[in-house]
Amino acid sequence: MDSHLFFRNALLTWAATHLRPMPWKGERDPYKIWLSEIILQQTRVEQGLPYYEKFVTAYPTVTDLAHAPEDELFKLWEGLGYYSRARNLHFTAKYIAGELGGHFPDTYETIRALKGVGDYTAAAIASFAYNLPHAVLDGNVYRVLARFFGIETPTDTPAAKKEFTRLANAVLDTTQPGVFNQAMMDFGATHCTPQQPACPTCPMQTQCVAFQTGKVREIPLKSKAPAKKERFFCYAVFNAGADTFVRKRMEKDIWRGLFEFPAIEWNSRPELPEGHAALRQWLLEQFFSNGNAPDFNITHISKPYRQTLTHRQVTAVFIEINLTEELPENISIAPPFSGTLRLPRTDLKKNIAVPRLIDWYLREKAGTLSLF
Ligand code: ADE
Repeated sequence: MDSHLFFRNALLTWAATHLRPMPWKGERDPYKIWLSEIILQQTRVEQGLPYYEKFVTAYPTVTDLAHAPEDELFKLWEGLGYYSRARNLHFTAKYIAGELGGHFPDTYETIRALKGVGDYTAAAIASFAYNLPHAVLDGNVYRVLARFFGIETPTDTPAAKKEFTRLANAVLDTTQPGVFNQAMMDFGATHCTPQQPACPTCPMQTQCVAFQTGKVREIPLKSKAPAKKERFFCYAVFNAGADTFVRKRMEKDIWRGLFEFPAIEWNSRPELPEGHAALRQWLLEQFFSNGNAPDFNITHISKPYRQTLTHRQVTAVFIEINLTEELPENISIAPPFSGTLRLPRTDLKKNIAVPRLIDWYLREKAGTLSLF
């Protein structure tokens, strides 16, 4: 079977039993559809629902909305955010009530020309209210189409918009565009989801290119990488004679099971205190808040080292600290030495694994360090 036809049939069969109930579904009043779509533009369905109910109750027609005092409308909108939507809503209601005699526009082009209405919202209103054959294209639709047809064009590009608009309209069931568009949205939102799509129970599985080629997790592609979360560490490399202290990282975030030095973490770009005395005081506060610090000398402050992980950008500085007094046997019970191992520095890496960033530091440092 032709893949467009297969897709269309499978989607509509799925939709026959899986559509999410929502108050605007099956609604034919373009005013109420417009209202629901504006509310849902930057808002999740669950959050938008009570607002939709409040608005249709307060303003049952576009003329009622047009006559609403702006302060009252904003009060009803309170908590939804993106207030330009509320301003445009009011502007457009006044335009329709005043210039169009209260008649909502009924062609794609005239709907699209309304303030606050983009391609997506125009297609939604045109198809839901008037059954006009215009395919909606939002994040859900990009994802569903990209996966099923195995399209690897990054979706955040103008070229993708053209390509996917053409494809969405090619698969659209022009005999029931409203039903089809609603099916696309709900299928993307509840079944072919971004993170854990329900492929095992998917009616399209046998012809889904992403599924058949093992690319469901990769597709859709984006050209811009999402911003990575930044982490900033300050490592204290405590040296006692020829030994140093390391601890195994147990946190479930990054580097679990690898070894590192005692650390403090900053929330933003690190700034060490200037000057030896200030830095010394700071180290005492950060690492020896119990007041039991052995004598020590600061022997080196590293440049920042950076490592890029899949979802993280890590920056670390290393401070070399020479512990100059005999340490008690049980030193590893108190911070900053709790849970640490005391290992000979020269073959530190023989038995333990360290993150790459720490390895870089140790390698660079080995050449210059004159501690031993
Ligand atoms: N998001 C925006 N419009 C929607 C609709 N009509 N149904 C489900 N989710 C939506």
